Amino acid sequence: MSRASTQSRELGTLSPNDLEAYWMPFTANRAFKQRPRLVVRARDMHYYKSDGSAVLDGAAGMWCCNAGHNRSPIVEAIQRQAGELDYAPPFQFGIPQAFTLANRIAALAPAGLDHVFFANSGSEAVDTALKIALAYHSVRGEGGRTRLIGRERGYHGAGFGGTSVGGIVSNRKHFGTLLAGVDHLPHTYNREEQAFTKGEPEWGAHLADELERIVALHDASTIAAVIVEPMAGSTGVLPAPKGYLQRLRAICDKYGLLLIFDEVITGFGRLGHAFAAERYGVVPDMITFAKGVTSGTVPMGGVVVRKGIHDAFMRGPEHVIELFHGYTYSAHPLAVAAGLATLDLYREEDLFARAKKLEPKWADTAMSLKSLSGVLDIRTVGLTVAIDLASRPDAFGRRAFDIMERGFHEEGLMLRSLGETVVLTPPLIVSEAQAGELFDKLSKLIRATA
Ligand SMILES: Cc1ncc(COP(=O)(O)O)c(C=O)c1O
Repeated sequence: MSRASTQSRELGTLSPNDLEAYWMPFTANRAFKQRPRLVVRARDMHYYKSDGSAVLDGAAGMWCCNAGHNRSPIVEAIQRQAGELDYAPPFQFGIPQAFTLANRIAALAPAGLDHVFFANSGSEAVDTALKIALAYHSVRGEGGRTRLIGRERGYHGAGFGGTSVGGIVSNRKHFGTLLAGVDHLPHTYNREEQAFTKGEPEWGAHLADELERIVALHDASTIAAVIVEPMAGSTGVLPAPKGYLQRLRAICDKYGLLLIFDEVITGFGRLGHAFAAERYGVVPDMITFAKGVTSGTVPMGGVVVRKGIHDAFMRGPEHVIELFHGYTYSAHPLAVAAGLATLDLYREEDLFARAKKLEPKWADTAMSLKSLSGVLDIRTVGLTVAIDLASRPDAFGRRAFDIMERGFHEEGLMLRSLGETVVLTPPLIVSEAQAGELFDKLSKLIRATA
């Protein structure tokens, strides 16, 4: 290490050379390292840069800090836990609090989904759900059900399972053939039919019937499960069309396919309910969760599983492991402590209901940006908005990237850019004034980059 960089580290600052070793995930590394976007602390609705200036968090970190940042009850719970018990093996041993957290999460899920399997991220949660689906059919003597059905424009994390059922071309194309035996439903977005819809679009329920076509092609006896996000987040907020999820549920029931809702983003209040399943009145067989379960403080993910699925495994000699799956850090004590404190905070501050109450005004304010130059569509649902922008000639994604970059450096705003779409998903503690500030800053940036 050069003397200059050692010194700069001691001084608590970073020179560009110091940024080299870290290969950042899902990041334009070279652009970042030329003009880094660094934060050093956070509190409630704001991040802070090392010069002390505030950045309004329009992204809840990455759809995860639903209770806001560095909330004292969560921080203190993590600190207490670190002082008491650092780690305990989750295979064949346990900590009492993990059972409490499983019960608390199951109580928030739709009736009948009453067992919780813990992982450490959304990606692991998804891979866990897919593996449980395959193993469930296998232990019931229907081991021929091996196909998994995802959806175009779906995002289910970066593992091989999630990437396979996911439907984002750039996430898939460099990584070989992925899992065999995967098929995809069409995505549900159609700008001509749906542009500038608040909430769930009227058009599109019929797209669920494509599952009938897929079943007819492969035969139901070869299909294990269907996985969808109730609202596709990572490809720019695509809420399920009205009636779509009900139709998927009916077709899955007809053919004995398991239905998995990936609620890594929609879980824990984003759509005004503990889980989006409740908003839509549709009960899946499994729900994956992560992010909001600890309000982003400590990595944790998991799957809530229907009783019948869990019970199908509980057979054979009692000393034998029923499901050969799990992680060293499943139900890690720090994550469990963070999860319990987070759920307390959600309940005490009634944050899911708060998101629901804010939704109409949020959607109206979002739509007020409709007339800005180059705005092609605005979609909202829950405390979420995505704005599609017209690209500059030959530079797809450049404008949204500029908005994200200038937002951070010039406007003190953190938002997400996805292709040529900008997305706001603030913590659920956002005040009406702060929501107004988010949209003011964003409209200024859209105008400045037109
Ligand atoms: C719906 C969905 N599933 C899975 C994941 C993957 O989660 P993680 O990044 O924690 O692995 C994400 C992440 O954004 C997601 O949005």
